[in-house]
Order: sequence, then C-alpha cells, then structure tokens
Amino acid sequence: MANDNKKFQAIISHCKEYGFIFPSSEIYDGLSAVYDYGQYGSELKKNIKDYWWKSMTQLHENIVGIDAAIFMHPTTWKASGHVDNFSDPMIDNKDSKKRYRVDHLIEGFAEELEAKGELERAKEILAAMDKLIAASDFDGLKKLIEDNKMKCAVSGTSNWTDVRQFNLMFSTEFGSTASADEEDNKIYLRPETAQGIFVNFLNVQKTGRMKIPFGIAQIGKAFRNEIVARQFIFRMREFEQMEMQFFIKPGSQKEWYEFWKAERMKWHLSLGIEKEKYRFHDHVKLAHYADAACDIEYDFPIGFKEVEGIHSRTDFDLRNHQEYSKKKMQYFDNDLGPDGKPIGNYIPYVIETSIGLDRMFLLIISNSYTEEDLGTPEKPDSRVVLKLPVKLAPIKLGIFPLTKKDGLPEIAKQIMDNAKNSFRCFYEEKDAIGKRYRRMDAIGTPFCATVDHQTKEDNTVTIRYRDSMLQERVDVHKLIEIVEKQIF
Ligand code: GAP
Repeated sequence: MANDNKKFQAIISHCKEYGFIFPSSEIYDGLSAVYDYGQYGSELKKNIKDYWWKSMTQLHENIVGIDAAIFMHPTTWKASGHVDNFSDPMIDNKDSKKRYRVDHLIEGFAEELEAKGELERAKEILAAMDKLIAASDFDGLKKLIEDNKMKCAVSGTSNWTDVRQFNLMFSTEFGSTASADEEDNKIYLRPETAQGIFVNFLNVQKTGRMKIPFGIAQIGKAFRNEIVARQFIFRMREFEQMEMQFFIKPGSQKEWYEFWKAERMKWHLSLGIEKEKYRFHDHVKLAHYADAACDIEYDFPIGFKEVEGIHSRTDFDLRNHQEYSKKKMQYFDNDLGPDGKPIGNYIPYVIETSIGLDRMFLLIISNSYTEEDLGTPEKPDSRVVLKLPVKLAPIKLGIFPLTKKDGLPEIAKQIMDNAKNSFRCFYEEKDAIGKRYRRMDAIGTPFCATVDHQTKEDNTVTIRYRDSMLQERVDVHKLIEIVEKQIF
C-alpha cells in the first residue's frame, strides 16, 4: 500500500475521540512518543494480550509464562551486550538541532521518492543503505544523505553532523543515597523483556521440571530512548512487548526457527487478517545476539513495517550470563545420544518470538478502521466502523431500550445483568437508536440488542450486526449464546 497519511491521521484522531488512546499528560502538552490507553483502548489491549498469552501458554503444553521485574541487576545489560551494542547510528541537523535515526531518515526519503513515482531510485538508495549499515560505514551513510540532498523536516536544510552511535537505554538511580560515583547506583529500565526470561531460565526449568524443547513467555513494559519521527504508537519510548524464548538443543536452531516463523504467521492470520497484508523481511544486519532473524511486516497506512521479530539467538545470552554471573546456565539432557549414553550438559540455544503489543494494537486498529459511504444522492450518509475481530472488541454487546418508558429500560437492564457475567456489555438509553448504533460501530461493538414493545409480548429482541448492519429478531434467551459462539 502506498503511504496513506490521511488514513493514518484519521486513525489517530479516531483513537482519541473514542477513548482508545490519549497523549500522555496531555494537559501539560503531552510527552513525546508516550501515550495513555483510555477506557476502550485498555480493553482492546488487554484482549490482545489475553489472546497471545492463551495461544502461547495454554495451547502449547511446553511453554509457561513468567512476570519478571522491570529493574534488573545492572550487570544483566553488560552480559546481554546492550551497554556496548544497543545503539543506533544517528545524525543531527545543525540548524534545527533535530536528531534522526539514520535509517529512518533515509527510509523516509525513499518513501517520498516512491510517492513521486521514482521507484528505481528509491530501491537503489535503500539497497545502498542496507550495505552501508551492514558494514557500519558511517562516513558512507553521511555521504549517501548528502549526495541525495536529504533535508531535515524542521529546518529544510541539508546541514548535517557526522553520523554517530547513541545508546537507546534509559537509566536512573537506584537506592536513596546519592553516591559520589554515579555509576555505582546506575540502573537501566529494561529495553527488552527477554533478559528477565534468560536470568530465570534455570529457576523455571528446575521448578517446572521442564524438558527441552520448552519455552518461557512474558508480557511486560520495555523502554527505549527512541529518536522519534511522528509515528503515533508505532514507535514509543515506553511500550509493551510479548516475548517468548524457546530453549532448544544446539544444532536444531534452523528447524525451530522455521517452525516459529510458520507458527507466528498462523497466529496473525487466525485473527482473520488477509494474507496479502503480511510479509516476512529477512534481516541484512543481524543484531549482536542473532545468527538468523526476520521481521513479520504488516501493511500499515504508513507502509509495510515490522510488527514482530523472530530471532535465532544462539546461546549468546545464556553463555554471557554464565560468564558474568559465574553461575552455570546449563541443562542436563537425559536423552540418549548416538553412543547410547545421556547427552549430558549443554547451554541451550534459543529461538525468540518478540511482538510489540502497541504495534499489534495499531495493526488491529489500522486493519479494522473503515469509512463507509451509505448514502444516496438524495440522502447523503456515512459511518466510521471498526471491524474488530469479535474476540478483541472492547465491548461485545450494546443493549438498548428503544424508548425510556413503558418498562423497556427495566427489561433491557435485566438482559444486561444476565449477560455481563459472560462478556463486556454496554447499556445506553440516550438518543435515537440509529445514533446509538453508530457510536457502537465507532468503537467496534460487534452486536447490539434492542428491546422494543414486541419484547414484552414474545420475549424477542432485535439483534443488529455491526459489519453487515443486518437486523433480525431473536429470542432473548439465545442472545448470550449467539455472542459467545463468536468469542471462543
Ligand atoms: N527481544 C528482542 C527485541 O526486543 P526488537 O526487534 O528490538 O527485538 C521486538 O523488538 C518488537 O518490539 C518489535 O517487533 C516491535 O513490535 C516492538 N518494538 C520495538 N521497539 C518499539 C518501540 N519503540 N515502540 C513500540 N514497539 C516497539
């Protein structure tokens, strides 16, 4: 899809207007690249988490979950390589003082070329960038930017500094006493949840009597001091990850890497999203811990972008934690080897699946956001509807009395009381019924039930379906069953 900035801006406005996402501390003009989830956003986010958690842990008998702390011993980040390697090449514009991640600046420029129809030149520039990044050739990257006269969006000039590396980890001080040596108290906000899994690898393996291959899953906050282009929740400084480390026998990594690529794509498609909206992108420059890696990319309104990473992390992390902590990070394998004896001790290899919860949220909203023209030349009409997967919708059933009198609210409230134990419902009696339906469309509620005078006679209600807008009469007692069928 071409870059559809108009749709992207419409989604951002919609998320704010309907209580999905607000800028953080908005009354103080917000905080760059930090967002709060509102009443419907937090429900949708929780439903995405639950769907991932269930599919990873409940449906894979050899995967268990943990919830590790955000703060970790500072040596963790030396062992993991983040202190030395978790940096991106950046460049500053000398006039605006604005800092850019080099790859974002170049990719943005290539997207502008594509929009102008200069596809070949865009391709050449991206290929050149990939090569220069893979070779860590910073002078070459600066030359690529200057030769193509790439400009700062703020100053409009091409007056650039040299390209330099900046570490993306946030740090803070630990403990109450200020130390003369600040480094003594320095602690990091985790930039990935994965390390909480690695340092607990043996705790879980031993207490859970886990046998390789097995996985440990976790959902939690991560923090990165991103140099941000305005991309809403696509790139945040505080975000959530849903990660799973799968511990395997050394030598079996290729097979398990392919397994998890297929398995994760299956998960995405299980939400009813078209296959064509996804693609794999193999990494050219591998992270410091990986021997193979790819992204699952989705066709966002801002173009195809990464939503999930699948990484073959070798034994890099466990081996380094063993070295730095001086504690054995090994597994004793009882299985028999070719010589008929137990295979014995080894440091397992790891395949990681890592998906950004906020990015998955943006994916779901982008995929669901639909503007529909329902009018005729005589009677213009339109609606915005979020065609969310039923499982993920914040509210499953809207319940409305047609009028505020004749005992209809009492019946509707009784239906609400019966249904709310099973799923999230929303009761409303204000405004015309059409307006109430449209408000439910805008937050993605898949079903609405309207109580009218006929309900008093035959115990039926009108059920209205969000996507087709079709309405039919159903027995009140069938309502819960109809909705539940679509949720599970
Ligand atoms: N443990 C591996 C790891 O963290 P990553 O590719 O850096 O790998 C994994 O991040 C996922 O986390 C990404 O695919 C993306 O969905 C999400 N993510 C990373 N940085 C993010 C940011 N600044 N804002 C929102 N999501 C982010």
